[in-house]
Amino acid sequence: MMLTPANILKKINIEIKQYHYGNHPKNLYQPIAYIMDLGGKRLRPMLAAYAFGLYKNDIAEVIKPAIAIEIFHNFTLMHDDIMDNAPLRRGKPTVHEKWDNNIAILSGDVMLVKAYQLLEDLKSEHFKKVFVAFNACAAGVCEGQQLDMDYSKLETVSMTDYLEMIRLKTAILLGFSLQMGAILADASEADTNHLKAFGEAIGIAFQITDDLLDAYGDADKFGKKVGGDIVENKKTFLSIKAMEIASKAEKQALKTLFENTKLSADIKVTEVKKVYDKLKIKHITQAEINVYFEKGLQHLSKVKADIFRKGLLKNFVTNLMQREN
Ligand code: IPE
Ligand code: IPE
Ligand code: MG
Ligand code: MG
Ligand code: MG
Repeated sequence: MMLTPANILKKINIEIKQYHYGNHPKNLYQPIAYIMDLGGKRLRPMLAAYAFGLYKNDIAEVIKPAIAIEIFHNFTLMHDDIMDNAPLRRGKPTVHEKWDNNIAILSGDVMLVKAYQLLEDLKSEHFKKVFVAFNACAAGVCEGQQLDMDYSKLETVSMTDYLEMIRLKTAILLGFSLQMGAILADASEADTNHLKAFGEAIGIAFQITDDLLDAYGDADKFGKKVGGDIVENKKTFLSIKAMEIASKAEKQALKTLFENTKLSADIKVTEVKKVYDKLKIKHITQAEINVYFEKGLQHLSKVKADIFRKGLLKNFVTNLMQREN
């Protein structure tokens, strides 16, 4: 079977539909089915399948562990939405809005366990490697998420610190997805490492795109509340770059906007974006996204796999960079 995005996505979605999380208590399991059925791009399992498909024809073997990653990802989203006070996810109410915080916490917890359960059947020659890499990644995601929260309370954060924060909270999971696909396909260590590095670089580009969409996305397509990062004082590529290049007066204006707790959310978003617009932040952000995308491609070019199959992966990631949600 050709590794077209549609074919892989179909396999992934069929497997997700078939997976049974549990029945009782329903307040533990229904939120899991709810968030998983909301869809999403299924990017991480797709990357795992593509990496595996660079070396092997039948991707069936990678699907179950790939679903483990998707469940892990959705667990992080469920908790992230509580932490970010987010009302919307994939165009629908978030779990903590639809149920409550306690339910979102515990459903999220059991999702992490489900992710591990889906890795129980890995072949013994793969198990240790995948397990070690997954654990390192999962701890890193938590570190990134804590830094994200800590930084929202600081007045200034350096670009270097920001980039490390997004590497941890987002990029390493994309890296791990590709790494796992390569491990399961018995790829060489050199290839596995390049694929992981490719994933991390495009993961940085991916999170910067997420930052951009959060401010400038089309509300109907984005599926999350536009302006949420500004309201929550998140440190994003946009906010940090703006503080870097703003004049003294603009800097002061931004600071005042971010410190003002009485301002309505809508006005805060509009006013901050006015400063961003003046500084041409959108354009600068897009250029930076390309830098990391290109960096990623350099790693992919060093992977010693079939050029046609690498082309499929490259196409998939290129399209991802044009995303609107
Ligand atoms: C959202 O991830 C969280 C980030 C790391 C930016 P996705 O943009 O992959 O979300 P879904 O799974 O497609 O909804
Ligand atoms: C989330 O970053 C990263 C993780 C969930 C680990 P964001 O908070 O920017 O993700 P969204 O925008 O809510 O999807
Ligand atoms: Mg969030
Ligand atoms: Mg967040
Ligand atoms: Mg975001």
